[in-house]
Amino acid sequence: MTRHFLRDDDLSPAEQAAVLDLAATLKADRFARRPLAGPQSVAVIFEKQSMRTRTSFEAGIAELGGHAIIIDAQSTHLGRGETIEDAARVLSRYVGAIVIRSHADARLAALAAASSVPVVNALTDGFHPCQLLADLLTIRERLGATAGRTLAYLGDTANNMAHSYLLAGATAGMHVRLAGPAGFDPDPAVVAKAAQIAATTGGSVEVGHDAGAAVAGADVVATDCWTSMGQEDDGLDRITPFLPYQINADLLAGAKPHVVVLHCLPAHRGEEITGDVLDASAAWDEAENRLHAQKALLTWLLS
Ligand code: CP
Ligand code: NVA
Repeated sequence: MTRHFLRDDDLSPAEQAAVLDLAATLKADRFARRPLAGPQSVAVIFEKQSMRTRTSFEAGIAELGGHAIIIDAQSTHLGRGETIEDAARVLSRYVGAIVIRSHADARLAALAAASSVPVVNALTDGFHPCQLLADLLTIRERLGATAGRTLAYLGDTANNMAHSYLLAGATAGMHVRLAGPAGFDPDPAVVAKAAQIAATTGGSVEVGHDAGAAVAGADVVATDCWTSMGQEDDGLDRITPFLPYQINADLLAGAKPHVVVLHCLPAHRGEEITGDVLDASAAWDEAENRLHAQKALLTWLLS
């Protein structure tokens, strides 16, 4: 059966750990392995903007000995009505895997259903699972392990990063706490699935509105932008209700002394995080780790 990586919970706890182990191995000896030599080609499609994802996939596939075909969807027939299923059927004849950044998760599911090669979610409205592999790798590097550690995610708890922290954090055995303004709440089905996973891994899941309570004693504190791609004109006030959830030095005083601060980037300094906290954060290692984590994921999916 063709394996896809559409959501964080598409990897079992053991599989997630195996991919992260491989990522650490690949990072330690970056140019040693070329499992995609041939070269195997990988299509990397963008229906939304990107800097890190595009560059880390293109560089990572090259380092694996493969060939990345970066596709701006607007420059293809996807931008003028070719169905995603037809595109999947055709691309499957050319490449070994399809990586895509898209909008609705249903569109990604339709692509995967029609594809005969692995499909990887490079961000949808609902999830950002490749980012979470990088985040977990960063937490392992800083704290030695993920299991039993407490991660607080503050801000837009309804967005893709919130959902991925729930699922991937629970899979990694973490205690995941979300805090954000009322009305920006995560999908209850995702919360329920994360709680179900956490019950098997020794983790836990809490969703609330109190930033201080979420950060109290946390090992990891994470945030993301308050306006995600595609939400620019949704008519909601995406500043005022979020202000109590800014990550700043005062808020972090309640976390563990060794607190690891994460931000998937791009950041909005002075909004979801202050510039001083961002500069001293682990976000830069986290960004680098996209490369290593995605190399491991592709190696795992294609071997
Ligand atoms: N973090 C992340 O996915 O960045 P890009 O949007 O630049 O790819
Ligand atoms: N939540 C953000 C993540 C960007 C990497 C967005 O979807 O725009």
